[in-house]
Amino acid sequence: MQFKKITQLAKGWSSYIWLVRGEDGKEYALKEVREKSPRKNLAEREGEMGLLANKVGVGPRVVEVNYEKNFVVREFVNGKNFLNWISSEEFDKSVTPQELYEFIKELYRALLALDSISLSHNQLEGGKNILVEEKVDALSKKRKFVPVIIDFEKASVKENNHTRNIGQIESMFFYNPHGMIAKKIRAKLSLTL
Ligand SMILES: Nc1ncnc2c1ncn2[C@@H]1O[C@H](COP(=O)(O)OP(=O)(O)O)[C@@H](O)[C@H]1O
Ligand SMILES: [Mg+2]
Repeated sequence: MQFKKITQLAKGWSSYIWLVRGEDGKEYALKEVREKSPRKNLAEREGEMGLLANKVGVGPRVVEVNYEKNFVVREFVNGKNFLNWISSEEFDKSVTPQELYEFIKELYRALLALDSISLSHNQLEGGKNILVEEKVDALSKKRKFVPVIIDFEKASVKENNHTRNIGQIESMFFYNPHGMIAKKIRAKLSLTL
């Protein structure tokens, strides 16, 4: 499929992310390597690890991997990254304990699914590679916040290894005594250290 660039979504360490429109009229996110970057195998890493994650229902669907031009096209996720979401005033004022609890449950489900195929993400710390999409639940008609894990460039498959992706976030989410994220989560869920 052909893709037309609409606008730049992000400028990473060595890649650009573009909002693009496909021939089908839909919006996608295209990740390409920056001209001077030494990361020549972006498509290989991001694309192949992303496709593996998709097999267990994790990550935005990968729709195209172009090895020649070194880019990967994914479904566009309309949402903030987790760090910005939890730092926002909206989180403090309007996100309920139940909504946060359901969000974390979904995230754990996704991380366990990655464990089940021995895929270790390796860059979950910091919370920028977890996007938060606001949706409306089909049955209850209530709003819900859904985690979408992105950026599989540093991911690896560790055969015969007990991969624990949850281990990459639990300190940041719960146990870090002074961390802003852990403090906010503990406060909203009434947890004590
Ligand atoms: N599928 C997507 N949908 C929406 N935004 C995306 C998508 N993929 C990436 N982005 C945006 O681009 C940023 C950088 O993407 P990422 O894959 O993490 O690249 P980097 O390797 O530069 O960290 C993300 O934090 C997010 O804001
Ligand atoms: Mg990233």
